[in-house]
This record gives sequence, structure tokens and C-alpha cells, in this order.
Amino acid sequence: MAQRKTAAVILAAGKGTRMKSRKPKVMHALAGRPMIEHLLASVRAAKLDRAVIVIGPKMESVAEAVSPVPAAVQKDRLGTGHAVLCAKDALKGFAGDVLVLYGDTPLLTTETLRRVMAARRKGAAVVVLGFEPADPGAYGRLVLGPKGGLDAIVEYKDATPQQRAIRLCNSGVMAADATLLFTLLSKVRNDNAKGEYYLTDVVALARKKGLPCAVVRAPEEELLGVNSRGEQAVAEAVIQTRLRAKAMENGATLIDPSSVFFSADTRLGRDVTVGPNVIFGPGVTVADEVEIRAFCHIEGAKIGKGAIVGPFARLRPGAVLGKEAHIGNFVEVKATVIEAGAKANHLTYLGDARVGAGANVGAGTITCNYDGFLKSHTDIGKGAFIGSNSALVAPVKIGDGAIVGAGSVITKDVPANALAAARGDMRVIPGWAKAYRERKKAEKAARKKGS
Ligand code: UD1
Ligand code: MG
Repeated sequence: MAQRKTAAVILAAGKGTRMKSRKPKVMHALAGRPMIEHLLASVRAAKLDRAVIVIGPKMESVAEAVSPVPAAVQKDRLGTGHAVLCAKDALKGFAGDVLVLYGDTPLLTTETLRRVMAARRKGAAVVVLGFEPADPGAYGRLVLGPKGGLDAIVEYKDATPQQRAIRLCNSGVMAADATLLFTLLSKVRNDNAKGEYYLTDVVALARKKGLPCAVVRAPEEELLGVNSRGEQAVAEAVIQTRLRAKAMENGATLIDPSSVFFSADTRLGRDVTVGPNVIFGPGVTVADEVEIRAFCHIEGAKIGKGAIVGPFARLRPGAVLGKEAHIGNFVEVKATVIEAGAKANHLTYLGDARVGAGANVGAGTITCNYDGFLKSHTDIGKGAFIGSNSALVAPVKIGDGAIVGAGSVITKDVPANALAAARGDMRVIPGWAKAYRERKKAEKAARKKGS
């Protein structure tokens, strides 16, 4: 028999008032990526057949972020049951199971989604993902029957004291056949404490029809809902712990894992060593055997095999380091290709440039890439040597094997293998300093006498 199809319906129409933000809640980032994308990544990895996201009015940014996943708009926020109904048109013609997810539960794993889907295929008409939080607070409570099946979900506000004592709570994740779910939802009423159409009511309605319902359990950590900045920070910590573990499993050494921060898309090769206090922004790829020393900030960069970066280096978007390139302390690299074996080890800014293979960029070199209006390119040929404290005023080209004298301000192209020194000529006057001191001492003594 062919696998049953599954469609995800992700609810994200809530305003997220407690975030105190102009941005929709699900657009707040965790590990450099909007919360909603974390959930979508788990959904994608679970290989579901379709997905629809339910958003509120004026949430175009969310629709854009999740594209090509279609968005259905819930005009009035009448409850979770009503929200799922808003996805009905978008799922027209779909036959199979619907998996309901909440957009603000970004830590849900693919493995757990698979377990919920599997329980549904084993025959329970409605499957609910439950958990036992340390503090059950105001979560909906799962009421079990004598044989352990699920009989009802009771919202906290509507629960009796006995029901409130139940520790097993509703995570919000639910799976049911699409036709059954929409039929049951059409029967849900809003005569409850909140005056909302509760998705959770479908369990009792299914039981009334004599259909079996089941609970699948997951750890609390995975079901953490992000409703405030505090909960966002807790979720960030959980994701960072996962990313650190993954990096180490894949063969990277993290000297002090707790001080390394990754983005969800950071890619590290084997035998990479990362020192303490390193931050990876989005879009970083690191090849094998790279050493990233302490206190580096890296984003949008590609680092080639065996390169050494830092300590205290900053790689910005468009930084591409070739094999065994060296970028040392207090060096900033932006939109620049550093070819194989090239070095910039101290106090340097390289922006909109190419540094040819094996070139050496001395301490304090600056590519002057911006004239206040436009950015221009600097090209440093292979094997070139840029003396310390030089300013390369772009657009400018330093030929292969050329040498630039220290302290130069280079405003014209330098041919291959030439020497360019652009600075005041040095004058040496023998004995001048000694004579100066004597003259000044005499002047001072004369003034004292006169006063
Ligand atoms: C819901 C569950 C509760 C569960 C808890 C888990 C119901 C009735 N209750 O309660 O059993 O323990 O989640 O966190 O489902 N949303 C919409 N449109 C709406 C209302 C909500 O899209 O009209 C979305 C929200 O954006 C959010 C999700 O649905 O992503 C949950 O809504 P929320 O109001 O947070 O439900 P809870 O009261 O927390
Ligand atoms: Mg909630």
C-alpha cells in the first residue's frame, strides 16, 4: 500500500503581544534564522507532502519568508480550531493526514513529527503530542481513558480542580485524517471560558463517534513555546547546545563549546578547531583542517582547507579564504578573496579586494575602498608584498610580485615586480638633536632668571 500523504498546517496568526515587537513573533530569529524557518526545516526533513501556514492580516513578511509554502490568512483570531479551518481551501483536493503545528514551537524535531505520523497510521483517529512540563501552568490538560487512550483535552480555564491536577499537557501538535478533522472542526462551538473555537475540542468529538485517540509523548525541551524575549533566549540556548553537539559529532574540536555560537546554517569540515568565544553569523562554510582561534566574528564567509583565522579576526560577507591562507589579529575582511597561502596577519582592513596567492599584506594595511559615494576594487597580485601601514586607494592594482614600501599611500597601479614607495623622503641631520636640546635648555634658564 502506498504511504498515506501528510500535510502540515502551521498556525502563526497570533500577534505575539508578549514579544513587545513590531515584527510578527515567528519572524524573531534563533541561531540567525527566523523561528518559523526552524519549524519548516523540521517539516521539510520529515518529507511531508504539503504545508500551509495560517497567518494574520498584515503579516506579509511571514508569507514571504515561508514562500513557496502557501499562506492562508485568518482575518479574525477566533481560536486555534478556527485557524485550522482557514487552511481548508488551501488544502482543497488533498486526501490524507493533517499535522497541525504551532509556529512558535521551533524546537520540535523531525524524529518527533515522524513518531506522531506513525501513531496516526497505526490507527488512532486523532493523535496528540503530549508532554509533562515541570510547571504545567495554563497548558491544556490531556484526559486519559482507563486503557490509556486519549478521551479529551481540557483547556486550563475550563478545567475542574481535578483536571488541573493532571500533569500531562497538550503541546498543540495534532494529527488526524483531513476529512475527519474538517468535519469535526465544523462542529466545534465557542461556548467556553475564552469564547474561542478550540482545536482541542476535536478529541472529545471524535470520542463521541467512538473513534480511538492516542497520545505520543516528547520531552518538554522540544515543545518549548516562544512567547516572550525570555523564552526566546531559552530556546536560543537549546538550539546552540544542539548545534555545538552536531559540530563535534561531525569532527570539529570546540575548545570551549559553551562560548561558541553558531548559525543554523554553519557548515564545519573535519578536524576544524574552534577556540573560545567565536561567533558564526549566517552563511559560513569552513573546510577541513581550519583553525579558528579565540574571539573571532565570522559571517557570510567561506574558509578554505587548512586556513588559520584569528585570534580577534572579523570575516564579513563575501570573505573567501583560499587554502592555507592566514588572517590574523585585528584583521577585517569584507567582499575579498584571499587566495591560497596569502597572509594578512595584523591590524588590517581588506574590503572589495583580491589578494593573490602567496601575497603578504603587512601590518596596518588599509584598502581605501570607499570615497564617500562609491566602492572600488583593489587587486593585489600573487606573491606581492605590501609594506606595513600602507593605504591602497582603490581602484588600484598591485602587480604580481611587486613590493610596496612601508607607509606608502598608493594611488596609481604598480606594475608587476616593481617597487613603489609613496611617502616623504627621509632626511638625517647629524648632531641636530643634541644642539636642539642645548639651545632649549639655555632658553629656559634665561626665562627663569628674568621672572
Ligand atoms: C494552546 C492549546 C493548549 C495547549 C497550548 C500549548 C488550544 C485551544 N489550546 O493554547 O491546549 O496546551 O496551546 O502551547 O488550542 N493561533 C492562530 N489563530 C488563532 C489562535 C491561535 O493562528 O485564532 C495560533 C497562535 O499564533 C499560536 C497557536 O495558534 O501559534 C496557539 O495559540 P495560543 O493562543 O498560544 O494557544 P494557547 O492558549 O497557548
Ligand atoms: Mg500559546
